[in-house]
Amino acid sequence: MKKRSFKPTLAVAAAILISVGVISFSDKVSAHEDAKEYEVAGVKLGGQLYDKWYKVLGVEVSGTHPLYPPEGKKSGDDTYRCKECHGWDYIGKDGRYRKGSHYTGIKGVYDARTKSAEELTRILTDPAGGHGMKELSADPANVRALVTFIREGLIDPDSVFNADGTVKGDPARGKPLYESVCAKCHGKDGNNLDFDKKDKGVQGVGWLARDNPQETLHKIRWGHPGSKMPSAVVDEGLKDSETVDLLKYSQTL
Ligand code: HEC
Ligand code: HEC
Repeated sequence: MKKRSFKPTLAVAAAILISVGVISFSDKVSAHEDAKEYEVAGVKLGGQLYDKWYKVLGVEVSGTHPLYPPEGKKSGDDTYRCKECHGWDYIGKDGRYRKGSHYTGIKGVYDARTKSAEELTRILTDPAGGHGMKELSADPANVRALVTFIREGLIDPDSVFNADGTVKGDPARGKPLYESVCAKCHGKDGNNLDFDKKDKGVQGVGWLARDNPQETLHKIRWGHPGSKMPSAVVDEGLKDSETVDLLKYSQTL
């Protein structure tokens, strides 16, 4: 008799723990479409930290990152950005950075999305691993956000790009999304904000979406560090496929 009452008790206890938030569902491995869950998980912060964590946190970094390979062409602050070694497309040496001035020969983080939260935390914080970045891990919430981003925020490059490198997605579905979400800041033609003022001519949304669709998609999904730009996934609740539609339409501007 005693044994039979054991299971329901456990179930009730679990239900209470879940309802008060002690147990969360953030152990999910695959990316999902539920905007609310993303928000709870802090994945927007993680996406922006991946982009340029020292800008998000307002801290200074010095010299070149110890893991940056000597044969790489960059130096200084940029070498601290996760994207500089692991890529905007999350597949490092197998993606956009397979050659050119950003080449490091380092693999991406995409394969690591199936690792446990504990393992990812260890990779990011263990001094022996070399990631170090004391200023970043001083607050465990930052590490948690990055771990969540790697486990839940990455998008499969094959769902974004065709084999010939062109972007999948439907520009006709992307147009109304662009006009309702982006146009108020970037203009209907995408050129209200000039991303590179040093360069002649305007480098707006259309220019960047064609020149670097991987970076543009990351910015669309998570926002731009240090600006009021929203995250299409978290703040606007768009599905992964809709963010690809937005990218495809952006390329036409
Ligand atoms: C200067 C280069 C550099 C920077 C910057 C960098 N990493 Fe790494 N990272 C590496 C190297 C090198 C490895 C080991 C890759 C290997 O095992 O081949 C690695 C491995 C990883 C792995 C494990 C990948 C796997 O599949 O085992 C994760 C996850 C990771 N990095 C996340 C991050 C995050 C998040 C950031 C930003 C906070 C970051 N890295 C910044 C160089 C870098
Ligand atoms: C609330 C205003 C706002 C909204 C809405 C907004 N953005 Fe932005 N966005 C900005 C600002 C500000 C910047 C930073 C511009 C700069 O650095 O010159 C930026 C930067 C960007 C960048 C990166 C530029 C770079 O230098 O790397 C891209 C790409 C971009 N936005 C595209 C979009 C798209 C597409 C949408 C709609 C999904 C969107 N933005 C919505 C304000 C906004």
